[in-house]
Amino acid sequence: MKHIFHNVDLSDRNSFHVRQSAATLVEFSSAEDLADYFSSENPAKWYVLGAGNNVLFTRNYDGVLLTPVGRQMTVIGDCGQCVSVRVDAGAEWDSLVEWSVGQGLWGLENLSLIPSSVGAAPVQNIGAYGAEAGDTITAVEYFDVPERRVVRLSGEQCRFGYRDSIFKRELRGRAIITAVEFRLSRVAQPNLGYGDVAREVELRGGATLANIREAICAIRRRKLPDPAVTGNAGSFFKNPVVDRAVADRLLAEYADMPVYPLADAGRVKLAAGWLIDRCGLKGYRGQRVGVHDRQALVLVNLGGATGADVMALADMVCRRVEERFGIRIEPEVNVI
Ligand code: EPU
Repeated sequence: MKHIFHNVDLSDRNSFHVRQSAATLVEFSSAEDLADYFSSENPAKWYVLGAGNNVLFTRNYDGVLLTPVGRQMTVIGDCGQCVSVRVDAGAEWDSLVEWSVGQGLWGLENLSLIPSSVGAAPVQNIGAYGAEAGDTITAVEYFDVPERRVVRLSGEQCRFGYRDSIFKRELRGRAIITAVEFRLSRVAQPNLGYGDVAREVELRGGATLANIREAICAIRRRKLPDPAVTGNAGSFFKNPVVDRAVADRLLAEYADMPVYPLADAGRVKLAAGWLIDRCGLKGYRGQRVGVHDRQALVLVNLGGATGADVMALADMVCRRVEERFGIRIEPEVNVI
């Protein structure tokens, strides 16, 4: 079932709550709805707007926004040790995580409370606390707009990387994700290696699924602003990946700088939040925008900000980090 709206206010459809509008917005439930829509329309410009948690509208959108609203979750396989579940793109990510934890299924618990729709999760391979969505995704189905047909990719074909996938590369501008399949495990596999996670889980009595979910939710609530209260899109920037030599040069001056190893031994990941913090920008408040006071990676709408206000702050932050550390940080958020 699809619904078409015109001249749509986007304030409540983007987590930054910037007040922009879209010429047309189509809510769709299934790939058939998309096939139906694209059989009669050929929009010059379109964009998939999920729950709007990772997007910054800097102007009114003059094309067609496509929003998945199908929310079905269906168990499609059970091998004893593992369970496969197929989820429509419009389902809320945390409902899936909550359901999996309730069912005693491992794999998604570290990704508790991430604001996202299920269809958006594979695009930037959402991740937190040592886990990534791509670790459990076995297939993604999408509607291919130029070819007007449904395509199914295996998890491997999605080429998941750090905040990266084929959907941000070759399939950008042609794929509309309609459903995602996950393989979850009945066998306990606690993943407690990141930051405070092990300590917070211990405080709750040990590594059960429910305790891990509760610990992750508590850590997130402490550090990250609730988009329902304060407009934001989580991390605004990606953590930069640089040559090890660049990190070594900086470590000589800043011995406490966090450095994360990568599979490619010649490259390392740095913490953009730490770099921004060290520029003295954590808690910075401009007129209508600011840098969150507990996590410098997060830019916030202090009330009434436009997309351009947020971008001006983002540009200032990038400039300061580059001046101080010689490192270019890039937005993780899609700027439209
Ligand atoms: N740090 C600071 N100051 C800050 C922020 C961070 O010094 O203001 C330091 C921390 O002390 C730590 C390091 O930087 O040593 C990393 O910080 P943190 O563990 O908070 O994680 P992050 O690298 O800043 C990433 C993700 C988050 C995710 C957390 C936890 C990206 C772009 N961000 O942040 O994801 O929740 O790890 O796994 O990779 C999101 O994508 O929207 C998001 C919130």
